[in-house]
Amino acid sequence: MDAPGSCEGALLAVGDAPVSSGDPVGNGKSGVAAGSDGGKPQTSAPKTANSSDKPVANPGATVHAGRKGADFHAELGREVIERTLALMDEAKSQEEQIHYALVLRWAHGWTPQQRERYFRWFHEKGARLSGGNSLAGFIRKIHTEAAGRVPDSEKAALAKWLAPLTSPAAEAVKPRAFVKAWTLADLEKDLDALKDRKPDLARGRELYAAAQCSRCHLFKDAGGNVGPDLSAVAQRFQRRDILEAIVDPNKVVSDQYALTTLTVIKFGGGEEQVTGLLQEETSGTIRILTDPFAGTSREFYHNVVKKKEKAAVSLMPPALLNTLTAEEVADLLAFLGGR
Ligand code: HEC
Repeated sequence: MDAPGSCEGALLAVGDAPVSSGDPVGNGKSGVAAGSDGGKPQTSAPKTANSSDKPVANPGATVHAGRKGADFHAELGREVIERTLALMDEAKSQEEQIHYALVLRWAHGWTPQQRERYFRWFHEKGARLSGGNSLAGFIRKIHTEAAGRVPDSEKAALAKWLAPLTSPAAEAVKPRAFVKAWTLADLEKDLDALKDRKPDLARGRELYAAAQCSRCHLFKDAGGNVGPDLSAVAQRFQRRDILEAIVDPNKVVSDQYALTTLTVIKFGGGEEQVTGLLQEETSGTIRILTDPFAGTSREFYHNVVKKKEKAAVSLMPPALLNTLTAEEVADLLAFLGGR
C-alpha cells in the first residue's frame, strides 16, 4: 500500500517534528494502515501539496532566519495550507482525507478561516468515517494534537470545533423498528403511488446513515469503501436496478465483492473456517476482511490455508430497507440522485 508510506514522508516534511517519540498519534504509519483495513487496498497514493522541494514552515528554519524569514515562512505556510485544504476537500477516499488531516496538524501560518475549515472537517466528516474503533481513535488523536497547537487567542472563536470529537459509540446507529419485508414489486408499486410527492432530501441523507449504507458505500465525499462508490449510481442504474440491488443483494454479486471462505489449519492443530472479503493476496499471504463494520481483518500464510472457496453471497446484508417506510425509501433514493 502506498498511502501510509507517503503519509510518513509528508509528515516529516511538515515541521520536522519527531514522529515516534513525543508523538501522541503514535506511529503515523501504522495508524493509517490500521484505518485502511476498513476497505479495499488503496491503489493510488494521495497527492501532497507540499512537494519535497518546498519544506512547509520548518520551525528549525524560522529560528535561524530573521524577522523577514519568519514572515516569508508564514506566507509560504498559508499558501501550502490553502492548497492542502483544497486537496482535502476534493479527496475522494477517506484514506486521502485522513492523510491531509495528518499532514496539516503541524503546519504553521494558519489564518483563522483556514483553522476553522480544518477543524470543522473533524466534526463534520472525520468523526463519521467508517473503519472501526482504531480509525476513530486515530482521528481523535490527530484532532487533539492539532487542537493543542491553536494559540490561546484563537481558542474562543473556534471553541465549537475544538471540542472533543464524540465517540462513534455515542453516535452508533440506533436500532430501527421493523416496518415491512419489502419485495421489489411492493416497493415499485408504493413508490409509483408517491411519485407526485416532493422528496425530503435532508431526511434521505439521514437515512443513508441510519440504514447503514454509509458504513460501506462512499457517496460524494463521505462514507466507507467496502462496497462500490454510489456517487453516480443514479446515472448508472434505473430505479428498478437500484432497488433490486438493495432488496436482493445476492442476486448479482460481482466477483470483486463476493465473499471468500478459507479453511485454515489452526496453530496447534484443528481447522477453522474464516469468511470475509478477500482484501489482499500476495505470494506469501492472504488477507481477509472479516468484519467490514469494525474494519477487522485477518491475515494467513498460504501454507496454513487448506481450502479457498468463493461464496456466492454478497457482503451487503439483505433486508436493510425493512425498517423504512415507502416515503423513507423514496427520500433515500432521492438523496442518491434517483427517483
Ligand atoms: C456491509 C456493507 C454494505 C452495506 C451496509 C450496504 N451495502 Fe450496498 N453493497 C455492498 C457491496 C459489497 C456491494 C457490491 C455487491 C455485490 O456485487 O453484491 C453493494 C452493492 C450495492 C448497490 C449496487 C451498486 C453497484 O454499483 O453495483 C447499491 C445500489 C447499493 N449497494 C446500495 C446500498 C444502500 C442504499 C444501502 C443502505 C440501505 C447499502 N447498499 C448498504 C455493501 C454494503
